[in-house]
Amino acid sequence: MPSKREKSATTTRPEDAVPSRSTCPKDFISTLPTREGWSTPLIQYNKYWHRPHVLEETLRVQDTFRPRADDIILVTQPKCGTTWLKALAFAIAHRARLSFADHPLLTRHPQHLVQFIEMPDPHILGHAHVDALPSPRLLATHLPLFSLLPHEMSSGDGCRCRIVYLCRDPKDALVSRWHFERKVDGHHMELEEALAMFCEGVSECGPFWDHCLEYWKESLARPDKVLFLKYEEIMADPVRAVRELAAFLGAPFSEEEESSGVPREVVRLCSFETLTGLPVNQAGGVDHGHFYMPNSAFFRKGVTGDWANHMSREMGEKLDLVVREKLQGSGLSF
Ligand code: A3P
Repeated sequence: MPSKREKSATTTRPEDAVPSRSTCPKDFISTLPTREGWSTPLIQYNKYWHRPHVLEETLRVQDTFRPRADDIILVTQPKCGTTWLKALAFAIAHRARLSFADHPLLTRHPQHLVQFIEMPDPHILGHAHVDALPSPRLLATHLPLFSLLPHEMSSGDGCRCRIVYLCRDPKDALVSRWHFERKVDGHHMELEEALAMFCEGVSECGPFWDHCLEYWKESLARPDKVLFLKYEEIMADPVRAVRELAAFLGAPFSEEEESSGVPREVVRLCSFETLTGLPVNQAGGVDHGHFYMPNSAFFRKGVTGDWANHMSREMGEKLDLVVREKLQGSGLSF
């Protein structure tokens, strides 16, 4: 039985022809536009740029992933605060049954507590599939779900599940990515070159602005379904952000929780200082088959505005200008 995409590929006019999905994802991927520069080539599919091994999984997600009404999906672009959001959402969602004294976040890396849809984590899933997880699922993704799964993500009244989207000043996201590639992949690209590619839209999961905009627009149309957050806003008032997140997840803090300081406890447990002080986040890592990800790589400085220590003012202004133009008229700004 052909997939939806195969069906639509057969109905396009010859002049619009895009490479059709073959039964072998590797063959199909080899027909797509590729750009070198970052530590791995990036491959363009559906407008967005993907790492090769993640793209294979992405195609599988597109064919098989079905959101459930009670799913909560945490969405970020890489280096926008995924680890922090995973910790916060996990701590909030499970606070009724977990004690802060022996909390899983004290012994497990936040990345291994919330499953990425497109990157199976053996620590969470073993050999199982994300479909095998029981409801309600707390999941994460870097994927642009609304353009990747337009039918599955929408029902008559909008988005089928609840989404928390976290973004960040693109200058900080870029600098964080640049450091990450150097640390994890030993990649020594100049920051100027990384900036040029980022401004062209060529970054993992980029164009950065298009990714933000898909979720921004949905958050305006369906604020009950998509909560749009910024790293800088959480940093400025984490307790307020934690309250907002709890309310959005359908479990606002009770008066009793407020008076016993639970929101502050969540903030403290998930803070950069607490998490980086834990042995589990200083050593070890996950073998994803194609690559090894050290646990410590997800923590660097954990501040806002660090871009200014790495980029000149002109470089910052160049990126700001590109992003401002791309977001013009949307109401979203950084
Ligand atoms: P920096 O490189 O700017 O320090 P991701 O989790 O999406 O990969 O993002 C990583 C970025 O989030 C890194 O930014 C990292 O230091 C920061 N980060 C990780 N945990 C954090 C936390 N608990 N609080 C604030 N920032 C955090």
